[in-house]
Amino acid sequence: MNILVTGGAGFIGSHTVVELLEAGHNAIIIDDFRNSTPSVIDNIEKITGKRPTLYKIDCNNTTELSAVFRKEKIDGVIHFAADKAVGESVKNPLKYYKNNIGGLVSVTEVMKEHNCNTLVFSSSCTVYGNPEVVPVSESASIQPAHSPYGYTKQVCERLIQDVYTSDNSFKASILRYFNPIGAHPSGLIGELPIGTPNNLVPYITQTAIGIREELTVFGNDYNTPDGSCIRDYIHVVDLAKAHVKALEKLSHSEHILDIFNIGTGNGASVYDIIKTFEKVTDSKLNYKVGKRREGDVERVYADNKKAIQELNWKPKYTIDDALMHAWNWEQNIRK
Ligand code: WQD
Repeated sequence: MNILVTGGAGFIGSHTVVELLEAGHNAIIIDDFRNSTPSVIDNIEKITGKRPTLYKIDCNNTTELSAVFRKEKIDGVIHFAADKAVGESVKNPLKYYKNNIGGLVSVTEVMKEHNCNTLVFSSSCTVYGNPEVVPVSESASIQPAHSPYGYTKQVCERLIQDVYTSDNSFKASILRYFNPIGAHPSGLIGELPIGTPNNLVPYITQTAIGIREELTVFGNDYNTPDGSCIRDYIHVVDLAKAHVKALEKLSHSEHILDIFNIGTGNGASVYDIIKTFEKVTDSKLNYKVGKRREGDVERVYADNKKAIQELNWKPKYTIDDALMHAWNWEQNIRK
């Protein structure tokens, strides 16, 4: 299949392009490089031996997007292009509404214009807010969003559901990610946070390599076994493979709307991650305990049974693998 991947040069997008190419699909990348660099395309080619087609386009530019659909026979779309920093979304909500919601409106409009009816959407466990029950299943209630970022994901999910209801040729799979970590085992692609990382694992690797003085653990007074927050950390390659499976399921389906939790099904605390990182890298991490971070939920991890059963998918990498790959990547980009 010819698959358009918006945000295909980004962290999860680039890993998904690798898996698409290795599964025999053609990948056409749309990216405006606001959160990525063109060298990612070279490294995708080094890993797979195939160079994906690239268009440097902002998803909100429907004229240019439409020209790509005219030129390429697009069978399906995986839509990653969005901003994802929770804290930034509080400071600059309009950027998030314009890019995250506006971008999806533009992409679905142009898909419709060109009779392309197959969409895989990048959502997030953030839609569950602070779940009453863990592990959290897809049927859990959607809580009021804690941030504009989280709210844009909820609005986008609702947009997709409304398009599905209005158009009985439309097929979509909404993937709710938990916490993507790690990097490709080749060490050629990985996470490239711009500025100070918001997320735990890139902050850890930048501390270990000496770019950051020390890690701050945002609170250890939560009602959890060791007092730090619990998350479901999933290897980015396992997450990428889930996209290919979701797409292939859609290609064999008629009018369908799927929602899947893509996580490992296991929870790990901040201290678990620190200890595992120290173990796999045989190093001592410099960290201190600080106050809680606004908006953090105490614990969230996936009930991933539906994805395992219906997508014929199963996460294979451990947290040890993910942290080793993240460390390997951090060392490579600093060479
Ligand atoms: C994980 C844990 C922090 C940094 C966010 C988005 C989510 C998804 C992944 C896009 C928390 C603690 C972190 C640090 C710390 N993004 N932490 N010190 O907040 O669970 O999820 O990123 O899809 O939608 O909400 O991830 O990595 O920021 O935090 O103690 O310097 O690590 O408090 O408990 P989060 P995170």
